[in-house]
Amino acid sequence: MSEKIRWGILGPGGIAHKFADALKTIPDAKIVAVGSRDLQRADAFADTFNIPHRHGNYIELANNPEVDVVYVATPHPFHKACAMLCLEAGKAVLCEKPFTVDAEQAEALIACAREHKRFLMEAMWTRFIPIMVQVREWLVDGVIGEPCMLTADFGNWVEPSPENLVGRLFSPALAGGALLDIGVYTVSLASMVFGTPTEITSLARIGETGVDEQSGILLSYDSGQIANLSCAITTRTSQDARIFGTKGAIHIPNFSRATSATLEVVGKEPLHIEIPFTDNGFEYQVLEVINCLRAGKLESDIMPLDESLSIIKTMDVARAQWGLAYPPFDSTFDSSKK
Ligand SMILES: NC(=O)c1ccc[n+]([C@@H]2O[C@H](COP(=O)([O-])OP(=O)(O)OC[C@H]3O[C@@H](n4cnc5c(N)ncnc54)[C@H](OP(=O)(O)O)[C@@H]3O)[C@@H](O)[C@H]2O)c1
Repeated sequence: MSEKIRWGILGPGGIAHKFADALKTIPDAKIVAVGSRDLQRADAFADTFNIPHRHGNYIELANNPEVDVVYVATPHPFHKACAMLCLEAGKAVLCEKPFTVDAEQAEALIACAREHKRFLMEAMWTRFIPIMVQVREWLVDGVIGEPCMLTADFGNWVEPSPENLVGRLFSPALAGGALLDIGVYTVSLASMVFGTPTEITSLARIGETGVDEQSGILLSYDSGQIANLSCAITTRTSQDARIFGTKGAIHIPNFSRATSATLEVVGKEPLHIEIPFTDNGFEYQVLEVINCLRAGKLESDIMPLDESLSIIKTMDVARAQWGLAYPPFDSTFDSSKK
């Protein structure tokens, strides 16, 4: 492994800019390459972030020997193919959430990482932010007793403008909808606290473009725990999470990007803590990847691959209950398809 971990960025769109902003602040990392389906977009991104290698297709990026790890930041349907391309070329991969569109894709992607003995992790950045580290410590220490129930909610109102209605969020062809885009954070939180559910019950409103605009999901577990989740792209909601235990509760406002939490233990004064991000919050997942690579690990203990698969399986069951399937995806890397 080189002196600094050398990153490549695949798919220089909206979120890749935020990721690169965070990456630039990490002393043990440098961005050495970017790959776009269009060389001009790669150049523009490279100029913004002072990146030496620019590639007009993803295959070149995957095969660039200067790159240790690739951040895959394409829309959901292309995560699997893009990540596999990089793993097969010997790169480690940090793959945006949702890990894949469905469990079949996730199983293939995980098998590929294991076969090639390369690091792979879902970029569930919320897991790594300091407040969530504190929440896990409270849970492990049993501060709220036995966790029994959880609510998590993530709803945004996205203006139904003509531009947005044909964009990623509202497009079945790009696996749009609330669940895969932001509901995944609620499912992931429930998974972090309770593990894999034994029963899943859900309802959704499917909008005119054919994607889930809002949904509610109830999960139950072996010991009777219950998680009550909701998400939306057409309704602004509280975006809070609460974990209720036998002796108290944890409230996490804006849980997907939390910088504060309140611990309420019966018979004690509430404890409110605030831990601001050092940058935009993405830096913590980058540090996890770097730590894993330096330690020679092939997956993260905090966001393990089998758990990413379990989260996708839960979402598959919910989508099946709504009758929501996506059209077949074209995952080729043909740069003429822009
Ligand atoms: N962690 C977070 O907070 C967060 C926030 C937003 C999004 N995300 C995730 O990040 C991923 C990308 O989201 P985004 O909002 O950045 O998406 P985006 O801007 O619409 O697309 C990202 C890039 O993907 C590439 N791409 C490849 N095939 C494409 C296709 N068929 N259609 C459109 N673009 C294609 C494009 O780059 P080139 O054509 O230049 O290669 C595009 O710029 C999603 O899976 C999303 O869930 C995560």
